Amino acid sequence: MKIAAGADHAGYELKDVLVKLLRDQGHEVEDLGTNAAGSVDYPDYGHAVAERVTSGAAERGLLVCGTGVGMAISANRHKGVRAVNPSDVFTAKMSRNHNDANVLALGARVVGVGLASEILNSWLAAPFEGGRHQNRVAKIER
Ligand code: RB5
Repeated sequence: MKIAAGADHAGYELKDVLVKLLRDQGHEVEDLGTNAAGSVDYPDYGHAVAERVTSGAAERGLLVCGTGVGMAISANRHKGVRAVNPSDVFTAKMSRNHNDANVLALGARVVGVGLASEILNSWLAAPFEGGRHQNRVAKIER
Protein backbone atom coordinates (compact mmCIF):
# COMPACT_ATOMS: atom_id res chain seq x y z
CA MET A 1 0.00 0.00 0.00
CA LYS A 2 1.19 3.56 -0.72
CA ILE A 3 1.31 5.52 2.52
CA ALA A 4 2.36 9.15 3.10
CA ALA A 5 3.84 9.86 6.52
CA GLY A 6 4.54 13.08 8.38
CA ALA A 7 5.29 14.34 11.86
CA ASP A 8 6.32 17.38 13.82
CA HIS A 9 9.22 17.57 16.28
CA ALA A 10 7.12 15.88 18.99
CA GLY A 11 6.26 12.96 16.76
CA TYR A 12 9.15 12.33 14.40
CA GLU A 13 10.88 9.66 16.49
CA LEU A 14 7.70 7.56 16.68
CA LYS A 15 7.00 8.32 13.02
CA ASP A 16 10.47 7.02 12.09
CA VAL A 17 9.84 3.76 13.98
CA LEU A 18 6.45 3.31 12.30
CA VAL A 19 7.81 4.13 8.84
CA LYS A 20 10.43 1.40 9.29
CA LEU A 21 7.77 -1.03 10.47
CA LEU A 22 5.64 -0.27 7.40
CA ARG A 23 8.56 -0.61 5.00
CA ASP A 24 9.57 -3.91 6.61
CA GLN A 25 6.01 -5.08 5.90
CA GLY A 26 6.44 -4.18 2.22
CA HIS A 27 4.46 -0.93 2.14
CA GLU A 28 5.65 1.93 -0.05
CA VAL A 29 6.08 4.86 2.31
CA GLU A 30 6.70 8.47 1.34
CA ASP A 31 8.27 10.15 4.36
CA LEU A 32 7.49 13.88 4.23
CA GLY A 33 9.40 14.66 7.43
CA THR A 34 10.19 16.18 9.77
CA ASN A 35 13.29 14.19 10.53
CA ALA A 36 14.92 16.17 13.32
CA ALA A 37 14.17 17.59 16.74
CA GLY A 38 14.00 21.23 15.68
CA SER A 39 10.64 22.86 16.31
CA VAL A 40 8.28 22.88 13.33
CA ASP A 41 4.56 23.58 12.85
CA TYR A 42 2.32 20.51 12.72
CA PRO A 43 -0.16 21.95 10.16
CA ASP A 44 2.60 22.05 7.53
CA TYR A 45 2.92 18.27 7.78
CA GLY A 46 -0.77 17.58 8.33
CA HIS A 47 -1.64 19.47 5.15
CA ALA A 48 1.19 17.89 3.16
CA VAL A 49 0.11 14.35 4.00
CA ALA A 50 -3.57 15.17 3.42
CA GLU A 51 -2.72 16.53 -0.03
CA ARG A 52 -0.92 13.31 -0.92
CA VAL A 53 -4.09 11.39 -0.01
CA THR A 54 -6.56 13.66 -1.81
CA SER A 55 -4.39 13.73 -4.93
CA GLY A 56 -4.32 9.94 -5.01
CA ALA A 57 -0.53 9.84 -4.64
CA ALA A 58 -1.07 7.89 -1.40
CA GLU A 59 -3.90 5.58 -0.37
CA ARG A 60 -3.46 6.32 3.31
CA GLY A 61 -1.78 8.87 5.53
CA LEU A 62 0.07 8.50 8.81
CA LEU A 63 0.63 11.56 11.01
CA VAL A 64 2.31 11.86 14.39
CA CYS A 65 2.52 14.88 16.69
CA GLY A 66 2.40 15.23 20.47
CA THR A 67 -1.25 14.26 20.80
CA GLY A 68 -2.28 13.63 17.18
CA VAL A 69 -5.00 16.24 17.66
CA GLY A 70 -3.48 19.10 15.71
CA MET A 71 -2.57 16.77 12.87
CA ALA A 72 -6.10 15.34 12.68
CA ILE A 73 -7.70 18.80 12.72
CA SER A 74 -5.37 20.00 9.96
CA ALA A 75 -5.85 16.92 7.77
CA ASN A 76 -9.63 17.01 8.18
CA ARG A 77 -9.78 20.45 6.54
CA HIS A 78 -9.19 18.62 3.25
CA LYS A 79 -12.28 17.37 1.47
CA GLY A 80 -12.15 13.61 1.19
CA VAL A 81 -9.85 13.16 4.16
CA ARG A 82 -11.24 11.28 7.14
CA ALA A 83 -8.52 11.55 9.77
CA VAL A 84 -8.85 9.84 13.13
CA ASN A 85 -6.91 10.17 16.35
CA PRO A 86 -7.29 6.93 18.29
CA SER A 87 -5.41 5.89 21.40
CA ASP A 88 -6.82 2.38 21.41
CA VAL A 89 -7.01 -0.53 19.00
CA PHE A 90 -10.82 -0.83 19.04
CA THR A 91 -11.39 2.76 17.94
CA ALA A 92 -8.71 2.44 15.27
CA LYS A 93 -10.33 -0.71 13.86
CA MET A 94 -13.84 0.74 13.97
CA SER A 95 -12.67 3.91 12.23
CA ARG A 96 -11.89 1.70 9.25
CA ASN A 97 -14.93 -0.62 9.53
CA HIS A 98 -17.54 2.12 9.86
CA ASN A 99 -15.91 5.43 8.87
CA ASP A 100 -13.49 4.44 6.09
CA ALA A 101 -10.81 6.53 7.78
CA ASN A 102 -7.93 7.23 5.43
CA VAL A 103 -5.55 9.14 7.70
CA LEU A 104 -4.30 7.95 11.09
CA ALA A 105 -3.04 10.63 13.48
CA LEU A 106 -1.18 9.35 16.53
CA GLY A 107 0.04 11.09 19.67
CA ALA A 108 3.63 10.31 20.53
CA ARG A 109 3.10 11.79 24.01
CA VAL A 110 0.01 9.62 24.49
CA VAL A 111 0.84 6.16 23.18
CA GLY A 112 4.10 4.21 23.38
CA VAL A 113 5.76 2.46 20.48
CA GLY A 114 4.12 -0.89 21.24
CA LEU A 115 0.57 0.42 21.36
CA ALA A 116 1.15 2.74 18.40
CA SER A 117 2.33 -0.23 16.33
CA GLU A 118 -0.72 -2.28 17.33
CA ILE A 119 -3.03 0.61 16.47
CA LEU A 120 -1.35 1.11 13.10
CA ASN A 121 -1.41 -2.58 12.19
CA SER A 122 -5.07 -2.96 13.19
CA TRP A 123 -6.04 0.18 11.32
CA LEU A 124 -4.30 -0.92 8.13
CA ALA A 125 -5.72 -4.43 8.24
CA ALA A 126 -9.34 -3.52 8.97
CA PRO A 127 -11.64 -3.25 5.93
CA PHE A 128 -14.37 -0.68 5.37
CA GLU A 129 -17.62 -2.60 5.74
CA GLY A 130 -19.59 -0.45 3.27
CA GLY A 131 -23.33 -1.20 3.25
CA ARG A 132 -25.22 1.16 5.55
CA HIS A 133 -21.94 2.87 6.41
CA GLN A 134 -21.33 3.87 2.80
CA ASN A 135 -24.30 6.23 2.80
CA ARG A 136 -23.21 7.77 6.09
CA VAL A 137 -19.68 8.38 4.88
CA ALA A 138 -21.13 9.92 1.71
CA LYS A 139 -23.13 12.30 3.90
CA ILE A 140 -19.90 13.46 5.55
CA GLU A 141 -18.55 14.45 2.17
CA ARG A 142 -21.70 16.30 1.05
C1 RB5 B 1 3.85 20.54 19.96
O1 RB5 B 1 4.30 21.02 21.19
C2 RB5 B 1 2.40 20.06 20.07
O2 RB5 B 1 1.54 21.13 20.27
C3 RB5 B 1 2.01 19.26 18.86
O3 RB5 B 1 2.90 18.22 18.67
C4 RB5 B 1 0.64 18.62 18.90
O4 RB5 B 1 0.44 17.88 20.05
C5 RB5 B 1 -0.49 19.48 18.56
O5 RB5 B 1 -1.65 19.02 18.45
